[in-house]
Amino acid sequence: MTTSDQYLRLGPDFYADPHADYAWMREERPTSRVITPLGNPVWLVTRYDDVRAALAHPRLHKSNRELRELLEARPSEDRTISEDALTAHMLSADPPDHTRLRKLVSKAFTGRAIAALRPRIEEITTELLDAMEAGPDRVDLLDTFAFPLPITVICELLGVPMDDRDDFRRWSNTLLQSGDAEVHAAAGLSMVQYLTDLVDARREHPTDDMLGAIVAASEDSDQLSRLEAISMAFLLLVAGHETTVNLIGTGTFALLRHPSQFEILRSDPSLVPSAVEEFLRWDGPVHLATIRFTVEPTVIGGVEIPPGEIVLVSLSAANRDPKRYPDADALDVRRQANSHLAFGHGIHHCLGAPLARLEGEVAFTQLLSRFPGLALDADPAELTWRPSTLIRGLERLPVRLR
Ligand code: HEM
Repeated sequence: MTTSDQYLRLGPDFYADPHADYAWMREERPTSRVITPLGNPVWLVTRYDDVRAALAHPRLHKSNRELRELLEARPSEDRTISEDALTAHMLSADPPDHTRLRKLVSKAFTGRAIAALRPRIEEITTELLDAMEAGPDRVDLLDTFAFPLPITVICELLGVPMDDRDDFRRWSNTLLQSGDAEVHAAAGLSMVQYLTDLVDARREHPTDDMLGAIVAASEDSDQLSRLEAISMAFLLLVAGHETTVNLIGTGTFALLRHPSQFEILRSDPSLVPSAVEEFLRWDGPVHLATIRFTVEPTVIGGVEIPPGEIVLVSLSAANRDPKRYPDADALDVRRQANSHLAFGHGIHHCLGAPLARLEGEVAFTQLLSRFPGLALDADPAELTWRPSTLIRGLERLPVRLR
């Protein structure tokens, strides 16, 4: 990171260790103008109280046509393709559209509805671990476990065929990380085409899974347009796996680098739920929440942000704020970290949080009991992080199972 009077400029090393930059910002420039590694000027909010307030701020908007048009004219990590199908969803909407869209699927994600999935999630987890046990000792844990578990669960829940999941993972990964605009656009188009075909097939042959319900709602245009149905499928599929894969991946990496914490958890599995919260707090899957805009002068953390600006709030910086968490940089699986902001806050608070927590709980419980000798099979300094300002996750996690 370099600093000037006006801007902080985040360099490519921000991806490898955002926490060092966040620590400095929290102290010196808690709400500041920043140039992202891709060169985009934004405002960045880093203190816990300010981040929490910004996430629920009624004047920080998710959707604004004029600003979106402005954004399309310049590169942005979050919006590099113009296909409306990828943004006509609840996470890019303000009330009343947000309220209407979220209500259509919220029943399927309540604590009770998700708890009913536990036996199936346990079964999928056991099958994956069985396959690992029967296979080689050295594996990439992301490929063999952290990715297949959430993608299988969300595909089954929605009713999306599993055959195309590798294509799907590639498009989704490309879309969520910084990079070449043409490559983004191509991945976006492939994704939209794939989802459009799925939705149109459901129109001809209705199904009783969640995608079927979404498509049925779109037959009544007061409830949902065809574009919104495609976009809803996109959001649920992408949000349903891009994040949980890193809860499992980064959480395991954290344990492997803190053997005493690994041992505490392995010897007392009743701590797994609190450990999952601590992994989310300590190095959560979403480090900067999705973009918000000002449409009028708006004060955040005592700083007035002019209209027409992009505001990014750092969940990761907030979650390590020493004013909120004593010894905030320390990983402590016994910590009661349940007020962390890793799932966001306010009306966009993660719809899938109960599902993600359940998957995390089942994954860590089974992984630690099956492979108590799990070890890192790489120099931690050589592992690379995904070049994204939204998603925080490793590119690979080489381990030895026994
Ligand atoms: C929203 C994090 C798993 C579906 C969000 C937001 C965060 C988040 C931070 C709010 C973003 C913002 O305000 O800009 C996470 C994390 C997960 C996870 C850390 C895993 C550990 C899931 C899963 C689903 C899901 C499994 C299942 C489909 C959604 C949806 C929204 C959302 C639909 C938009 C809610 C709205 O706009 O009202 N998530 N998520 N997420 N998440 Fe998750």
